[in-house]
Amino acid sequence: MKQIIELDVNDEVHELAVEPYDSLLRTLRDRAGMQGTKRGCDSGGCGCCTVLVDGKAVYSCMTMVMSVIDKKITTVEGLPEDGELDPLQQAFIDAGAVQCGYCTCGIMMASKQLLADNPNPTEDEIRKGISGNLCRCTGYQKIIDAIKMAAAS
Ligand code: FES
Ligand code: FES
Repeated sequence: MKQIIELDVNDEVHELAVEPYDSLLRTLRDRAGMQGTKRGCDSGGCGCCTVLVDGKAVYSCMTMVMSVIDKKITTVEGLPEDGELDPLQQAFIDAGAVQCGYCTCGIMMASKQLLADNPNPTEDEIRKGISGNLCRCTGYQKIIDAIKMAAAS
C-alpha cells in the first residue's frame, strides 16, 4: 500500500506517494517524474542510476527510498546553478565526452563526489573514481579528459 513521504531532492521538498519497497531510482523516475537519472541494469551493475545521498555517490537502483527520507538527494537536475551549467556538465560538452549519453548523468554524479573529495585528482584517481560506472560508447578517455577539465576550471 502506498504511503506519502517527503523527500529532499535538489534542495526542494517533494511530497510523493511511494510503495515501501520502491527504490530511490523508481521514486525519482516514476513517482517524481525526474528522468535525468537513468535506469540501466536496475541491479547494481552499471552506475547509470548514480545520484548523491548526503554528498556520497550511490546506485539509486540499489537504495530503498525509505532509507533516505531524512537525507539530501542530489540528481543531475540539481547540478546547474543560477541557470549556468555545472563546470562538469560544460566540460563533458567541451571534451566531446557524450555519445549516446546514457551513462553520462551517472558518471557526472560520481565525478561530482570525486572532485568534492579530491579537487585535483590524478588520472589514476579519476579512473578509480568512475570505476563503478560503465560506458559502452566513449572508450573513457574523453570522459577522463572532461573530468580533468572540470577540475582545472
Ligand atoms: S541501473 Fe543502477 S547500477 Fe545499473
Ligand atoms: S556515452 Fe553511451 S554509454 Fe556512455
